[in-house]
Amino acid sequence: MFHQFLFTLLTFNILVNAHGAQKPLSSTPLHPQHAEHALSLLEKYPLIDTHIDLSATFRTIERNPWSAVHKLDLAYPGHIDLPRARAGGLAGGFFTANAPCPKAVGQDPGPDFLNPTDSIQHVLESMDLIRKWIEVFPDQMKRCRTASDVRQAFEEKKLAVMIGIEGTHQLSNSLAVMRMYAELGVGYVTLTHVCHSSFASSNGGGAGTSGSTIPPIHPGNGLTSLGVDLVRELNRLGVMVDLSHVSDDTARQAINVSRAPVIWSHSGARAVNNHPRNVPDDILDMIGDKSGQNRGIVLSVLYSIFIDKDNATLARVVDHIEHIASRCGKAHVGLGSDFNGIGSSVLGMEDVSKWPNMIQEFIHRGWTDDEIAGLMGGNLLRVMEEVEYVKNQLSSESASTTIYEKRKDLPAHEWGGPNMAYLADDVKEVVIAQKRLRDEL
Ligand SMILES: *[C@@H]1O[C@H](CO)[C@@H](O)[C@H](O)[C@H]1NC(C)=O
Ligand SMILES: *[C@@H]1O[C@H](CO)[C@@H](O)[C@H](O)[C@H]1NC(C)=O
Repeated sequence: MFHQFLFTLLTFNILVNAHGAQKPLSSTPLHPQHAEHALSLLEKYPLIDTHIDLSATFRTIERNPWSAVHKLDLAYPGHIDLPRARAGGLAGGFFTANAPCPKAVGQDPGPDFLNPTDSIQHVLESMDLIRKWIEVFPDQMKRCRTASDVRQAFEEKKLAVMIGIEGTHQLSNSLAVMRMYAELGVGYVTLTHVCHSSFASSNGGGAGTSGSTIPPIHPGNGLTSLGVDLVRELNRLGVMVDLSHVSDDTARQAINVSRAPVIWSHSGARAVNNHPRNVPDDILDMIGDKSGQNRGIVLSVLYSIFIDKDNATLARVVDHIEHIASRCGKAHVGLGSDFNGIGSSVLGMEDVSKWPNMIQEFIHRGWTDDEIAGLMGGNLLRVMEEVEYVKNQLSSESASTTIYEKRKDLPAHEWGGPNMAYLADDVKEVVIAQKRLRDEL
């Protein structure tokens, strides 16, 4: 295994040195007769992966993630590092800036999600770590926000780096936090991770589970009214609404509310493998080009358990994608690996260096170059452009003033300090009047 990997690296270095350019390659082609054709497609069209948990790996294994960034250009543990990304022809990706669901790190948000958690610190630190990657590797990586940024990065042969937030537990119940994440360039928000939030209901059933959902807590097990406002605000901000992980009713309602195309950043088809992380047919039927359909996209995951635990192969992933395409159209499929967020990928797609195998399989199945270019990234770029278009359409709307109705921290009388020493006399009078009113109620 190690020797094979080393061999890939050596071969790659020889190619780089010989041609002075980055050239994707795969050490063990799935369909050798299509290897050249696949490489030419990877050189011509960007391949974009919508879900890579690389920053989480840094947080999981480094004492000081920021001082470890140089390791990205070596063999870094997990499914991705820069040499393997180059070898696989990866052109860009959404990298998650993540905090796990609070219970996973021993924090209980409580029944109304009001107990403080460290989520926002984890998100901001992860975003700063991603910023650091680009500072350390400016010749290899480029921070991108729009579809045209991605095209520009591809021209420059740099990896287009975008950011996704996986789960609204990371918003601390606040649309204002979401607006600030958007200013920092967050490209999508998954409406839940494996836990419910004050915005939306989750389907549970993430990596490590065999397909069980989690007990509902919100009436209707879908979006809350705060979640409805969030979807509208995401449309206004031009942030993509991601429906991987959410409950089926959250998905249906979010599609109903959203004026922009939605995405599933890493999910498969439930008709191919009956797992709650995959999208059922009746929801797939809400996506497509027909009138009344949402023009969104399902980007297929590589996690063995979601694909088919008895036949976890690349070909089986393509079965998922072809099923989704049969319901929604080939313009509504794409790739979202979940690399570094899954214990095991599928055979033939063991890590990021194997993307040429995926392309070969589509050539083998008779997809045209245009259709494959769409699957690789063109369809996603179209969705990004449409989301940007909706943002422009809504540019005269003001930011939502909605706040979570169960919040208890506002007004924050205790901010007045000891004996209200921080407060001017007239502010003090307001506080005293408010306290009196509160005590009377
Ligand atoms: C869709 O939205 C409309 C209008 O807001 C609402 O009346 C309807 O119940 C919604 N349907 C679903 C499935 O959420
Ligand atoms: C695994 O899936 C592939 C793709 O559908 C299929 O060709 C193959 O026969 C399957 N293998 C088994 C053992 O079911």
